[in-house]
Amino acid sequence: MSLQPILLLPDNRLRLISDPVRAVDDGVRTLMDDMLETMYDAPGIGLAAIQIAVSKRVVVIDVAKREGEEQEEVKNPIYLVNPEIVRVSDEISTYEEGCLSIPDYYAEVARPAKVRVRYLDRAGTMQEMDADGVLATCIQHELDHLDGVLFIDHLSRLKRDRVLKRFNKDAKRRLD
Ligand code: NI
Repeated sequence: MSLQPILLLPDNRLRLISDPVRAVDDGVRTLMDDMLETMYDAPGIGLAAIQIAVSKRVVVIDVAKREGEEQEEVKNPIYLVNPEIVRVSDEISTYEEGCLSIPDYYAEVARPAKVRVRYLDRAGTMQEMDADGVLATCIQHELDHLDGVLFIDHLSRLKRDRVLKRFNKDAKRRLD
């Protein structure tokens, strides 16, 4: 397993539409391991492959929290290959979202409160899962990445432009 650099806004690759995975083989499982290690290290609760510059429809998520008196880390990774949302609730919920590709910026986004997602698991088996709460939001956020959509695209133009401006400035500074 290896840590990978995470692409940052305004990297154009974050706008790519990722390609479907043909088969969940060892190469894809290695990719998922790298993604998970990179996500835990960041730390974050979700990562799409394009965020480490791999344009494949692969997502890893872990919304488990540290629990217990000994601060033991509870891990519950979810691996989603070629995921598709097949059902959404009418009910909407709003969460403050962030993104490892847009560090230190958080904003509230309204999305369907519950979703059903169909995907291939780590073994390549078709699965369906119902999600609510923060997991439902995280799934929608990560699946957006596969279509080149970022959470700031759900904000008002004013807010989005402000964030873009800030990150364009940071990127320029990195080049100077
Ligand atoms: Ni993100």
